[in-house]
Amino acid sequence: MIEIIPILKTFYFSIVLNGYLLTSSNFENLNKNLYVYVKDKEDIKVLRGGDMIMYPYKLPELTYSYDALEPYIDKETMEIHYTKHHGAYVNNLNSALEKYPYLQNYCLVSLLTNLNALPSDIRDSVRNNGGGHLNHSLWWEILKPNGSKEPVGELAKLINETFGSFNNFKEQLNKAALSRFGSGWAWLVLDKFGKLHVISTPNQDSPYMDGFIPLMGVDVWEHAYYLKYQNKRADYLNAVWNVLNWDVIEQKYQEAKQKLNQLVKTS
Ligand SMILES: [Fe+2]
Repeated sequence: MIEIIPILKTFYFSIVLNGYLLTSSNFENLNKNLYVYVKDKEDIKVLRGGDMIMYPYKLPELTYSYDALEPYIDKETMEIHYTKHHGAYVNNLNSALEKYPYLQNYCLVSLLTNLNALPSDIRDSVRNNGGGHLNHSLWWEILKPNGSKEPVGELAKLINETFGSFNNFKEQLNKAALSRFGSGWAWLVLDKFGKLHVISTPNQDSPYMDGFIPLMGVDVWEHAYYLKYQNKRADYLNAVWNVLNWDVIEQKYQEAKQKLNQLVKTS
C-alpha cells in the first residue's frame, strides 16, 4: 500500500491539474525516485535526453582513437575496455532482454530504476550489464584528448558554490574513488532538488538507481587502469583530470536541469 501512494499522487495530479489520464506509454516514466508526469510523446524525448538508450543495445561510437588519450590512458586499456568489457555488457544485456519483448520498449534508465519489477531471472543481468552499458556510454562521452582541465559555464559556478572551489571538488571526488572498495564508480551527480553531490556506487550500479542524475563519473574498476597503473589507483585518478571534456559535462548539466523542470512536485 505504501508503494502505491506516490503513483496515486501523480495520478491525482494528472487528472486534477492537467485533465489527462496516464496511459501505458507514459507510465514508464514513473519510478520510486523521480515522479514524472508526461503530457505527450514530445515530453518523453525531452525527459530522456541523452539517456534514451533502448533495445537493441549497441556500443556507442568513439569520437577519438584508442591511443588519443595517451599518455594518461593507454591504447591497450582503451581497446580492451571498449571492445571487450563494454562490448560484453551490451551483448549480455541484449541476451537478457531477448526473451522479454514487452521490456524492449522501455529505455534503459526505466529498467534500472524499476529492477524489482523485472523478472527475477534477468534482474541481476540487467542491473550489472545494463548499468555497465549506461555507465560506460557516459564515460567515453566525457573523455577527450587534451582535456579542458576545468569546468565551464553554469556548472563551473555551481561547483564553486557547492564545494568551495574546483580543487575541493577534485579532492572529494578522488577521495570517493579511492575509498570505493573493490570495483565501482565515483560520480558528480545532480539530485532532484537541483543540488550537486559527490557519490560512489559499487560494481556497475547507476546513480539513477538512487534518484540522482549522473553528470560525470570515473570508472575505478581495475580493468580501467591496471595495465598501466597496476595497483596505483591514485595515479590513475590524477591522470584522468587531464582528459575530461568539460563542455560535454556542462551539456549534461543543462540536460539534467531540463529534466528536473519536467518533474511534478508532489511533496
Ligand atoms: Fe569499465
